[in-house]
Amino acid sequence: MALLELERVNTFIGSVQVLRDISINVDKGEIVCLVGRNGAGKTSTIKTIMGLLRPKSGTIRFKDEDITDLPPYRRARLGIGLAPDYRGIFTDLTVEENLQFPKWVIKRNRNQSGSNIEKEVHAIFPELDRLRKREGLVLSGGEGKMVATARALMLNPELLLLDEPLEGLAPIVLVRFAERIKKIREALGIAILLAESNIAHASRVADRIYVVERGEIVYGGSVEDVSRDEQLNRLVRGF
Ligand SMILES: Nc1ncnc2c1ncn2[C@@H]1O[C@H](COP(=O)(O)OP(=O)(O)OP(=O)(O)O)[C@@H](O)[C@H]1O
Ligand SMILES: [Mg+2]
Repeated sequence: MALLELERVNTFIGSVQVLRDISINVDKGEIVCLVGRNGAGKTSTIKTIMGLLRPKSGTIRFKDEDITDLPPYRRARLGIGLAPDYRGIFTDLTVEENLQFPKWVIKRNRNQSGSNIEKEVHAIFPELDRLRKREGLVLSGGEGKMVATARALMLNPELLLLDEPLEGLAPIVLVRFAERIKKIREALGIAILLAESNIAHASRVADRIYVVERGEIVYGGSVEDVSRDEQLNRLVRGF
């Protein structure tokens, strides 16, 4: 049984169709990456899954429940967490307050294990201790990504959505962050759907990928198989 399933999802922004018949799935404990050029539709897919964009047609199922018409907070309650590409860190709150924020606004049933999740998240991102009292405003790009990811974990989700978590990180930081993404799955058993425009980033973490182009899924499978297809290869490597 798939944890998340999108079936023939069509999404419009205004009169522009940004997603066309998107059908994808993510199983329990899997790391899946959406790969595509700028403007391909990765963020639109993630927003549609979180409920920030509503599809015109198609179905989204999470844990076998039809969530197509649920608002974002209900999806968060069911166990979907999001770290958006713009990070969304509250600049006038401290890191600690940013991390507590989801609990202030959303009551999640799985919160029984909530005290543990905080400990586990700090074990995965030990730097958070040092940043605790710092204001969101002063965080570096890499620190902001870490806080946004940690915050998305605070309600103990079963599916974590990460929009370009590795984009713009310095090489050493990138390698470390990719390891942390894998550790999230290992330590917490959380499935992850991430978006990256760089297939080399995807290959560091993902079990399998979908290639998105002009709002459509043009490939689903392993990273290795993309390399064998000249047309796909050209698409994802941008030449
Ligand atoms: N608010 C909007 N109004 C109109 N068109 C939009 C809006 N937001 C996104 N689009 C269009 O939807 C398409 C998909 O955008 P999306 O942000 O999903 O791409 P992406 O794959 O995440 O790109 P990137 O790698 O640059 O983040 C693009 O053509 C974009 O111009
Ligand atoms: Mg995007």
